[in-house]
Amino acid sequence: MSSIITSIGICHPAKEIKNSYFEDFLDTSDQWIRERTGIERRFFALENEFTSDLCVGAVQSLSENYNKELGDIDFVIVATTTPDQTVPSVASQVQNKLNIKQAGCIDISAACGGFVYGIILAKGLIAAKTHRKVLVIGAETLSKVTDFSDRSSCILFGDGAGAVIVEASEHNGIFNALTDTDGSYGKELYLSNRALYLNDEKIVADNKLHQNGRVVFKWAVSTLVKKIRELLSVNNTDLQDIDFLIPHSANIRILEAVCKELDFPIDRCMESIRQYGNTSAASIPIAWYNGIKNGKIKPKDNLLLIGFGGGMTCAGICLRNEIDIR
Ligand code: UT7
Repeated sequence: MSSIITSIGICHPAKEIKNSYFEDFLDTSDQWIRERTGIERRFFALENEFTSDLCVGAVQSLSENYNKELGDIDFVIVATTTPDQTVPSVASQVQNKLNIKQAGCIDISAACGGFVYGIILAKGLIAAKTHRKVLVIGAETLSKVTDFSDRSSCILFGDGAGAVIVEASEHNGIFNALTDTDGSYGKELYLSNRALYLNDEKIVADNKLHQNGRVVFKWAVSTLVKKIRELLSVNNTDLQDIDFLIPHSANIRILEAVCKELDFPIDRCMESIRQYGNTSAASIPIAWYNGIKNGKIKPKDNLLLIGFGGGMTCAGICLRNEIDIR
């Protein structure tokens, strides 16, 4: 059985945080943040606002461009690094809040690669003919695990969510995927409140995100270039056939370096970093949604999605955009 993606929605908290916010308590500046990351603003959840709330908001946004039932969703996948709690899963809370009966529910932990992993799993469930309509959400409240004393990381992260529906279909709109991981980079980007050792090194277990920015930056550029080429090859296609690249939005300079290396026009690379910061698992659907909303991405456009992040892990997939929400 083939599958297509039939709708998309996004959500962010109302509280907007401009770069100047950080100038009050850190040695940083709006200029440094814009020049080194591209970020102009991001949104932070309120104290009583959690990842599951943003998931529900993204599904409500999705329902505005989906004129069919949501009640027959038979599987819910939430990709997140920042679940409300470890158990129960965010997916099960979303199922309950949306009153979706009899759905399988799981959270997946693949950091900024999580949304693409979710689509790959949904495609597999539908291909196996065990499920027909899968809700895939990438959602984060990273502000809750940000170390606000670390100027190199705290200026990066934002909160948000993006949701899609993957459905069984007569014609195929989701093509080949690839996944890869290099666990030896684990300690370069981690969030822990338990393990004291990672890759045989003692780490800080304080439930805050820690990142070796320079190492991750270099890994990201070289991995993205290599994996995008591999993904094109497993799809027996080339970059000329791709209308839009949607890589995880971690830093505008990563996207610029990748497009330069691949000789791909930067205006056909969708990003969400400038207006939302790095929203990890939510960054790809947010960029995709806004690309459609602002009239750039049109129905039948070929997209290449590629996520990468803590693990270090990477996942990419080629698909056809079927959605029009203007
Ligand atoms: O989403 C998961 C994957 N994550 C990523 O892909 C993130 C990848 N890494 C990055 O985006 C970048 O490495 C950062 C944005 C984290 C840092 O940018 P950078 O250009 O790599 O800066 P740097 O770490 O090389 O630091 C350059 C200088 C340093 O000062 P010195 O040592 O040259 O005097 C830093 O202390 O910039 C300083 N610096 C800052 N200055 C002002 C670091 N953060 C700040 C800041 N404001 N916020």
